[in-house]
Amino acid sequence: MTGSGEVNAIEEVSFSIREGEILGIVGESGSGKSVTALTVMGLLPQPPARVAAGEVIFGGQNLTRMSDRQMRSIRGPGISMIFQEPMTSLNPVFSIGDQVMETIAAHERLSQSDLRKRAIDMLDKVGIPSAARRLDDYPHQMSGGQRQRVMIAMALACNPKLLIADEPTTALDVTIQAQILDLLMDLRDEFGMAIMIITHNMGVIAETADRVLVMYAGRVIEEAPVAGIFDRPLHPYTRGLLECVPSLVEDKPRLVAIPGTLPEPARRPPGCRFAPRCVHAQPACTAAIPSLELLEPTHTAACFRARELAPA
Ligand SMILES: Nc1ncnc2c1ncn2[C@@H]1O[C@H](COP(=O)(O)OP(=O)(O)OP(=O)(O)O)[C@@H](O)[C@H]1O
Ligand code: SF4
Ligand SMILES: [Mg+2]
Repeated sequence: MTGSGEVNAIEEVSFSIREGEILGIVGESGSGKSVTALTVMGLLPQPPARVAAGEVIFGGQNLTRMSDRQMRSIRGPGISMIFQEPMTSLNPVFSIGDQVMETIAAHERLSQSDLRKRAIDMLDKVGIPSAARRLDDYPHQMSGGQRQRVMIAMALACNPKLLIADEPTTALDVTIQAQILDLLMDLRDEFGMAIMIITHNMGVIAETADRVLVMYAGRVIEEAPVAGIFDRPLHPYTRGLLECVPSLVEDKPRLVAIPGTLPEPARRPPGCRFAPRCVHAQPACTAAIPSLELLEPTHTAACFRARELAPA
């Protein structure tokens, strides 16, 4: 719900994720990535938000029917999330050790000394040097990259089956970014957890994801294995996103931004929501919303002209 009445922040967003799989969700700012993640976590503030339809099935259980108490027991050991703003998610008045231990204690009965050992172990695992000595530090005594690692340690403290990482590296410099992404992939290999990685950066997707979901204006507009998205993008918006990725192999820069901006939920155009920005738009594109269609065995896209425009 917003000042302009009730609007659908996301609609018909449907996807699945398997054990040990890394699913990338990509799209411009405001496309609905975080709302999707928070819906899965059962953390959308309701009200004002409302899950009007649909369901989230996790390990055979329907999370949408669960009480707050049941959901609290799923969060942590079941699904865990690294939030988009690490600086605001850590409490400045408690030491990082206290915060990591509190997360573990919420789900496991352990003695104080065992809690401490587990916290050191987790901080060590995410690459905080001299973890035992850093336990009593406060968030402001750590660098941005280290705080992000603490957030990851907290998200992993209960060994979740699904980890949702919402823009886990946006605020970090390139070297730290690469380290954090490597860490996530190592953790997937070690624990077999499924990871949903949310980003507006196609480079991050290329390096980490097995499968990709592209979102635009609250809907999924393309889904495919990562190679399909990069080698044979079928939606004009995905092709536009890929043009915005700086090329490492060509010497000339080819940074072409997609013209125009993403519409607000209350101001979405009729028919295909990408039509006002699409160079291939035709009058028929504004008559109805294109639905996701299976165009290749593991590749879906929502564009009326996808088949006709697909590279041979
Ligand atoms: N609680 C809410 N109630 C209603 N609308 C919301 C709510 N939270 C976000 N929105 C709206 O839903 C749309 C999608 O927002 P969302 O935060 O999911 O985007 P995003 O893809 O995560 O963007 P970013 O890359 O900036 O993080 C936006 O238009 C936003 O204003
Ligand atoms: S349906 Fe039409 S406007 Fe929408 S992406 Fe396809 S060609 Fe462009
Ligand atoms: Mg977001």
